Amino acid sequence: MDQKIIVRGGRRLKGRVRVNGAKNAALAILCGATLAGENVVLDNVPNITDVQHIIQVLSFLGARVVWWREDAVTISVPSLTVREAPYDLVKKLRASNLLLGPLLARCGEVRIPLPGGCNIGARPMDLHFKGLSALGAELSLEKGYICAKAKRLRGAQVYLDFPSVGATENIMMAACLAEGQTLIQNAAKEPEVVDLANFLNSLGARIFGAGTDVIRIEGVKELGRPVHYSVIPDRIEAGTLMVAAVATRGEVEIEGVIPRHIQPLTAKLREMGAQIVEGEDVFYIKAPDELRPVNVKTMPYPGFPTDMQSQVMALLSTVPGTSLIVENIYENRFQVAQELRRMGAQIKVEGRVAVVEGVPRLYGAQVRATDLRAGAALVIAGLMAEGETEVVGAEVIYRGYKDFEKRLARLGADLAAANGQEQFFALGEKSDPGRRNIPTYRE
Ligand code: EPU
Repeated sequence: MDQKIIVRGGRRLKGRVRVNGAKNAALAILCGATLAGENVVLDNVPNITDVQHIIQVLSFLGARVVWWREDAVTISVPSLTVREAPYDLVKKLRASNLLLGPLLARCGEVRIPLPGGCNIGARPMDLHFKGLSALGAELSLEKGYICAKAKRLRGAQVYLDFPSVGATENIMMAACLAEGQTLIQNAAKEPEVVDLANFLNSLGARIFGAGTDVIRIEGVKELGRPVHYSVIPDRIEAGTLMVAAVATRGEVEIEGVIPRHIQPLTAKLREMGAQIVEGEDVFYIKAPDELRPVNVKTMPYPGFPTDMQSQVMALLSTVPGTSLIVENIYENRFQVAQELRRMGAQIKVEGRVAVVEGVPRLYGAQVRATDLRAGAALVIAGLMAEGETEVVGAEVIYRGYKDFEKRLARLGADLAAANGQEQFFALGEKSDPGRRNIPTYRE
């Protein structure tokens, strides 16, 4: 069912908020845990729908996964009873393709439906296949399933034509149990790749150079040391909250972050005129009323992250002057421009380039979240807009953001989630919940 978030704009965000564990690191690590036997404890796991879905897939395959705290799980995979992931679950998230490498390494055979996920582009898997084939896997596509087999995986040298996050992770996981040494050249350097490597090393893997262009993996016979591991903070959630703070010309402290991971965004926000003070694991951010336009180009890490592009587009839509955005990672990630235009934004899209002419203000409208980052961007636009914005299709936001509207409400935003049956409101003192006849939400 379509869920909605209703936002009334005009409030400045103010206060302190703590960031959750990183979605994309947690998803990869949960898949990587299938390489181990038992005794894996993970902390700082965000309880978001993408994580719930991957846990359902793992459980179906025979893993025992227990939430023992709101943000912590134990995983044991003594044996994998099923080698075919179910279509109904897998179609819900792209990250299920990350089971290919570890299941192949552990079981020698796996069948995974071609994955689904956010509607942001073609997202092929040729680089995953290239790497796994180099390690000795036989791959084929049969009736919508990826079928992979390997009697024995052998270390190899793999050059990635593009530093794909998923391909790097899949190859790295498979190579952990391969015979001999694997080199991944032009590897992805994203913090989530490094977090996965650190997790696998704590299980007993021998991975060197994660976070650089070349990752070397020395294969081992098995992985299975007892592990208690904490997932890194979500740099994209932190970035989204920073952009929301700047968009509302607010003053917010964001705790539990690794500032280095968010550098490309911090640099842009500073260029726009925001004041940002970094502590060891905290940001203090304050924005003046007048901001300057900037140009943004998405790139693999440490470039500007594609996962922050939509939110920044929303922010730039009210910054006087012309800003240019170049999207180099996903061809469909400009869909949000069309929705922002419904709110009065002036954005022209030509291929991979968007030209944003700042307007004095946005106006509330009904808009649709086309993917999770677009959804977050539209909520941010709603926070800036005059009047009421209804973001429909808001369920995609919960794929990646835990309690999104509650956390913004705690910072003083005036917004509500409504999902048909169960509805709640998260409003500040000036609003009138009676207007929509839905009960006031309280923490
Ligand atoms: N690509 C290929 N062939 C491949 C693999 C990728 O051409 O075999 C292309 C893709 O089509 C895309 C580009 O390479 O144009 C980047 O894809 P990549 O493989 O790096 O992305 P991913 O692993 O599928 C992860 C995140 C995404 C994030 C990207 C880029 C997870 C679960 N997902 O996807 O997260 O945008 O890296 O940083 O880790 C999100 O969180 O909103 C999200 C989409």
